[in-house]
Amino acid sequence: ANNQPALREVFKKDFAIGTALNNRQVAERDTAAARLVPQQFDAATPENMMKAALMHPEWNRYYFDEADKLVAYAQKHNIKVNAHTLIWHSQLPAFMRHMNSADSVRQFMRDHITTVAGRYDGKVYSWDVVNEALNEDGTMRKSVFQQKLGDDFVVEAFKLAQQAAPHTRLYYNDYNIEQPAKRAGAIALIKKIQAAGVRIDGVGIQGHWSVEHLPLDQIEKSIQEFGALGIEVMFTELDLSVLPSPRGIVGADVNQSATYNDKINPYREGLPDSMQNKLADSYDALFRLFLQYKNKVTRVTFWGVDDGQSWLNDFPVRGRTNYPLLFDRKLQPKPAFYRVIDTKKHT
Ligand code: G3I
Repeated sequence: ANNQPALREVFKKDFAIGTALNNRQVAERDTAAARLVPQQFDAATPENMMKAALMHPEWNRYYFDEADKLVAYAQKHNIKVNAHTLIWHSQLPAFMRHMNSADSVRQFMRDHITTVAGRYDGKVYSWDVVNEALNEDGTMRKSVFQQKLGDDFVVEAFKLAQQAAPHTRLYYNDYNIEQPAKRAGAIALIKKIQAAGVRIDGVGIQGHWSVEHLPLDQIEKSIQEFGALGIEVMFTELDLSVLPSPRGIVGADVNQSATYNDKINPYREGLPDSMQNKLADSYDALFRLFLQYKNKVTRVTFWGVDDGQSWLNDFPVRGRTNYPLLFDRKLQPKPAFYRVIDTKKHT
């Protein structure tokens, strides 16, 4: 018997609860994850499976096996798929690195969006059409797309996605867009898409924060300001690092194996209660805010299921022991999980 409460049930009337998934989890080989994921989550984003590097390895060759498995898995468990991502400067196919002309970049964009978004229209719920197009100061990032096609590549991408996937919701996704300057850039970008008469259905605030830096005021302002644009507001890659930023640590050697460096990797034997509580407090504050704005916030997705497989164990240095999620390395719920569940009692 399993009396564990389920996030997807508790927040059913408020917003979808998602997780990033990898191919191992989708294959249901790990019995603990196989049980936990469909019980807890009603939305999923492929962590890497639908990125261009994997799905579009050569000019005229596509690879759909893993994405198809994810779609079948999601259908079986009544989970909405947020496909991720069509146009992003990172994890691009190798052939894109040799692309010099605007024509070939434009052709890549057209072929990629038409083929991939077209194939999954009606099968996935939504797409992160463009990912991380902005710099921290709100200007456009100098990606291969921006350099060859100009700032309007974003509008073009949404237009192509709208044509290829009329039944799929279309989102812009980025990190740090809760911060004032970058947020202003994102708002301008979204307004530009809207002014061009092109459909954009939502914005994803990634939410890679930490217990030391959780910008609650800016997050609240962002929900209000993005919500005022008449689109969905989502938290799409939520995790809270409990580790210090290695860049700020005096005397820490980031080139040395992080595993044996107490300053860089302080909690490799386990997370002390004080930090466990700090994490729980942070998640509690966040979910209270999300519930306060449940009419604007449509989805909250965690970037991973459990601490053991989180990307934050390998970023910004490899081999650390981080604890950013609600489930521990044995897939057991942490105190933060119960605090998130309990936020419902206060509303
Ligand atoms: O699959 C290979 C494996 O064969 C190889 O042995 C290994 C050695 O490095 O690499 C494996 O690929 C890694 C891949 O994750 C799968 O684990 C890549 O090196 C690694 O770079 C890649 O990292 C992903 C990262 O995006 C790439 O930029 C993370 O898993 C993924 O969590 C992360 O997700 C991004 C979002 O898409 C966008 N927002 C930020 C977020 C965090 O960076």
